[in-house]
Amino acid sequence: MLVGIIADLHANLEATQAVLREIDRIRPERVVCLGDITGYYANPNEVVAMVRERGIPTVMGNHDASVCGLEEPWFFNEAAQAAVRWQSDTLYEEHRAWLSTAPTEIRIDNDTIAVHGAPGNRDDYILDWLDAMRHVESLIRANAHVCFFGHSHRVSLFSERGTGPQTVQPNCYTLAQDNRYFINPGSVGQPRDHDPRAAFGLYESEKRVFEFCRVEYDIETAARKAIEAGLPRALAMRLSRGK
Ligand SMILES: [Fe+2]
Repeated sequence: MLVGIIADLHANLEATQAVLREIDRIRPERVVCLGDITGYYANPNEVVAMVRERGIPTVMGNHDASVCGLEEPWFFNEAAQAAVRWQSDTLYEEHRAWLSTAPTEIRIDNDTIAVHGAPGNRDDYILDWLDAMRHVESLIRANAHVCFFGHSHRVSLFSERGTGPQTVQPNCYTLAQDNRYFINPGSVGQPRDHDPRAAFGLYESEKRVFEFCRVEYDIETAARKAIEAGLPRALAMRLSRGK
């Protein structure tokens, strides 16, 4: 089964449209979202609507939880807090009700789980191999070998045995049957790995092949709309730097 993996859309409509266009062209059998549909940019209603209309299963991100009023954004920087407040006021009630029911974990198949930050904790960052290894026990308990995660907005692939390439370039990787993996496809709406193109992943679960994918999108429009909405300028400016 070919699965499209999207994460950290962050209400960036132009990036989301570009990624979903590419996914429509490739036609995976399933698409799964690793959370943070909301936060940061100008189109939370439109982006939530696109995910809902397509019936894409999604886990709840930390921004989603704050925008829905389920968590206080204590750990957010000033710009992120401002965006959460604006989005809380902007998000339609029916979208909030839908997003509020998102689970913390989705099982993609009997060997693969999807989370936002880390297994059991959407706020936890997996930034390096040691971070990933702290969660191997959770993966064993879940009887799974592959965990897809988001939150860091960094393209990453960490394997239990062998530190491997900790940050990889967009590429294809065959996963061994007897190893365990933590994979972040990168962010659709706010990439932070110095590549401003929108990121997503494709996973062929039978062949155990994962591919990191990137697509160009209209960054200028997304940035302009954020500024026009009165969102912090720094959020708009970072899009073209991809960091
Ligand atoms: Fe995020």
